[in-house]
Amino acid sequence: QTLPTFDLVLFGGTGDLAMRKLLPALYRRTCAGQVCADTRIIGAARSDLSREQYLAQVKSNCEAHLDGEFNERMWESFARCVDYCKVDAGEDLDYAALSRLLEGREDHVRIFFMSTAPNLFALICEGLARHSLVTSASRVVLEKPLGEDLVSSRQINERVGTAFREPQIFRIDHYLGKETVQNLLALRFGNMLFEPLWRRGRVRHVQITLAEDVGVERRAQFYDQTGALRDMVQNHLLQLLCIIAMEPPATANPDAMRDEKLKVLHALRPLAGNDARNNTVRGQYKAGAIAGQPVIGYLDEKDVPPNSVTETFVALKVEIDSWRWAGVPFYLRTGKRLQEKQSEIVVTFEDVPHALYERPEQLHSLNRLVIQLQPEEGITLNVLAKSPGEGMRLRPAELSLDFAEYFNGQRLDGYERLLTDIINGNLTLFMRRDELDAAWAWIDPIREAWQQYEERPKAYIAGTWGPAAASSLIVRDGFVWRNEL
Ligand code: BG6
Repeated sequence: QTLPTFDLVLFGGTGDLAMRKLLPALYRRTCAGQVCADTRIIGAARSDLSREQYLAQVKSNCEAHLDGEFNERMWESFARCVDYCKVDAGEDLDYAALSRLLEGREDHVRIFFMSTAPNLFALICEGLARHSLVTSASRVVLEKPLGEDLVSSRQINERVGTAFREPQIFRIDHYLGKETVQNLLALRFGNMLFEPLWRRGRVRHVQITLAEDVGVERRAQFYDQTGALRDMVQNHLLQLLCIIAMEPPATANPDAMRDEKLKVLHALRPLAGNDARNNTVRGQYKAGAIAGQPVIGYLDEKDVPPNSVTETFVALKVEIDSWRWAGVPFYLRTGKRLQEKQSEIVVTFEDVPHALYERPEQLHSLNRLVIQLQPEEGITLNVLAKSPGEGMRLRPAELSLDFAEYFNGQRLDGYERLLTDIINGNLTLFMRRDELDAAWAWIDPIREAWQQYEERPKAYIAGTWGPAAASSLIVRDGFVWRNEL
């Protein structure tokens, strides 16, 4: 389906996200025939670049990040849409230049994508408003992190809100663009099968793991100020938790969905003081090896202070105080330099009330629904089946759906989907301001408790699954992480 003609101004247009994800995503949509020739994609950044110099950068990045998909003919038609404008966020003359580029195009969908440091979001929005660049068909896209706590996030939202109305603001969480996350919605709300089981009394516990094998890469300065709790838990992990735990919305309307997610955030049992200490584990990686290759420890990474107490790993036990979920623990964990990249959600169901047949020990015999987000995308249901041969002995078996195989490899990258949603004006997969406030309000006391107890994060060796305490957090309740089964 062709997208409406749009003008997209990409602030931070020379940055890592723009080059690695956003521009390749727009290129792929062009190849799919969705982008009209009259569309404009304007990179905006502080560097003084000509259009040709910018195009050369974009081209080499598209070639590098689109393994095998790049071709000269498509590039020519994509390149015709791309332009560059030097914009220094505090410089009025630069907004005037941008304004000239957009003149006469007020009727088109206009998107301002903030892929800059968050302290520039408000400044840029105010600049756009001052120069009357915000039309009624304008949208602003805010990348995470939106602030560093509730207070700073509110300040940004307040100031952005002076230039854009809430329905014009798209707060992006790229995890919600992942195919399997949306399939989780399809699974829950498109089938009758799971809904009756999706509650206390049927579900015993839930695990969400977002494990990465990469370290801090070239972002140590940013990362050391941020840490895993704010980089991954406040947004991606809590959003996934909301999608698993929310009540069925009455309609597919964006606000109906966001209202339900908000209720989950409000029902999270607070983790403050001693509760935070007992139900969270912070870790920091030491030197180790990933896939046989030695890697250095966090404190030896370039730009990390030698005494840093920033966490590169977090595990939490979370409870949701609602009728549906009371007493069902949710275990969340995320970390850098873990054994492998693996993102998954595991819903473990209760055991049968009475076992008729010979079966494996209890932890192995439980029914589990595993929703795999990365590296492969798929859904597996673990059941017990009869072992072939004589006698009735049960053993674990899998019913599984591999999306790439079943749907013939057709897939959209998370950013591609979210960009098309923004262009089409669909807010469903974007966070509303009150959701963000509620997420920060739940996260802040955890950080405060960590500061209060002044404990160093627990060390773990790069290439493992995190500190031993993360295993104890779940073992003490009689469960194990799936990779430790
Ligand atoms: C980003 C974090 O939001 O998500 C990064 O800032 C992290 O630190 C990344 O590496 C992980 O995303 P994905 O899609 O590769 O799992």
